[in-house]
Amino acid sequence: MRLFVAIELVPEIRETVRRLLGELLCAAPSAKWVRPENLHVTLKFLGESSASQLESLKMVLSEVRLAQPVRLDFRGLGCFPNEKRAKVFWLGMQASSNLEELAGAVDLAAHSLGFALEDRPFTPHLTLARFPAPGMPADLATAVRGRRELEYGSQTTSEFHLIESKLKPSGAEYTTLQTFRFTLEA
Ligand code: 2AM
Repeated sequence: MRLFVAIELVPEIRETVRRLLGELLCAAPSAKWVRPENLHVTLKFLGESSASQLESLKMVLSEVRLAQPVRLDFRGLGCFPNEKRAKVFWLGMQASSNLEELAGAVDLAAHSLGFALEDRPFTPHLTLARFPAPGMPADLATAVRGRRELEYGSQTTSEFHLIESKLKPSGAEYTTLQTFRFTLEA
């Protein structure tokens, strides 16, 4: 099974981003837009994993601890790798510094089971769309220009999730396999 670890959006942020997607969709009808229920902030992509790796992952991930919840302030729209060669269109965030610590702890936990460590810096983002041909469609670039400085809300979270991704012709289908609380109970 194909697995990844992610933070889920709280309902209010999901609704705000759903509205944003509704506004932007017609500016790039050929893009593959992420369905609102599938929006997430990826902490670690694990890829194809066995049933026994799944059980070990559940154990090591349940030991990840941070002193404080993480805070995410959603703002900024952009592309990977850049506008000209854009493949991924994202909503950015200003995150508390411990988000990177969380991603690092998840990376190390997975590495303890033999999953490769990330070789690139963690760049938190919320993927909104993927472009079948590289490059940002001109109408979308125009729509983004007027929205670059807007803010899309904040959330504070103490949980992350281990999620299975099934790739279907109709798009990815995600199932949360386990939720992990990473702060100590009050
Ligand atoms: P991203 O969209 O947040 O960048 C589930 O498939 C998630 O894992 C995707 O949303 C994507 O994160 C990430 N992902 C998928 N395939 C990947 C790959 N081959 N390498 C790295 N990350 C991947």
